[in-house]
Amino acid sequence: MNQVVIDQAATLRQQQNIPSENGSSERMTRVVAITSGKGGVGKTAVVANIAIALAKQGKKILVIDADLGLANIDVVLGLSPEYNLNHFFKGERSLEEIMVEGPCGIKVLPAGSGVQQYTRLDGQLKMRFIEAIDNLHENFDLVLIDTEAGISDNVTYFTVAAQDILVITTPEPTAITDAYALMKLLSSQYHQKNFLLCVNSVKYGS
Ligand SMILES: Nc1ncnc2c1ncn2[C@@H]1O[C@H](COP(=O)(O)OP(=O)(O)OP(=O)(O)O)[C@@H](O)[C@H]1O
Ligand SMILES: [Mg+2]
Repeated sequence: MNQVVIDQAATLRQQQNIPSENGSSERMTRVVAITSGKGGVGKTAVVANIAIALAKQGKKILVIDADLGLANIDVVLGLSPEYNLNHFFKGERSLEEIMVEGPCGIKVLPAGSGVQQYTRLDGQLKMRFIEAIDNLHENFDLVLIDTEAGISDNVTYFTVAAQDILVITTPEPTAITDAYALMKLLSSQYHQKNFLLCVNSVKYGS
């Protein structure tokens, strides 16, 4: 089962080198999943801030809202998308049709909110989604995947699919414990050994 996930993830990783017409590598896409274990520690805030900061530097950024049941990157970025990933999973819209433009030219794939049906993707939908991401016409410098909280199958799937895993925590003992538990799971069950760590909401002074 884990091997299947890892094999699917390889598809996304392989999109890193996109050959140009003269055969050289044109744009290197880095795919980073942002996750945390504990909820509410700032994943979406960090995603939005990284995306805007790098877009301002001229980077082409794609944000994927992988919080498939309670999406909110669109709210944080002030967007009101007509379609979301549920339309893609239903087969009604392509990713290009769902994609919306946010501040500073960031492209966003918004997820649905309040619909349980696609909160647990089956293997076929996961494969279709990864293939569609892989086939996006536009080239990006950075793809940021904003995951849901917890250690569900969706969280492990999207984190394993990324090149880099950025774990967000706060100094709260419960957040640190959950971040550690998540990394332990990803390490022991999914062969992920390298993690980036961001400690958010640190208070200086008293
Ligand atoms: N560094 C920060 N300074 C001030 N407020 C912050 C900071 N980081 C996050 N917040 C606030 O904390 C709240 C939770 O943040 P956010 O929604 O980004 O967390 P999350 O980890 O994505 O939550 P969820 O697990 O529900 O997806 C939001 O109101 C956000 O604006
Ligand atoms: Mg969030």
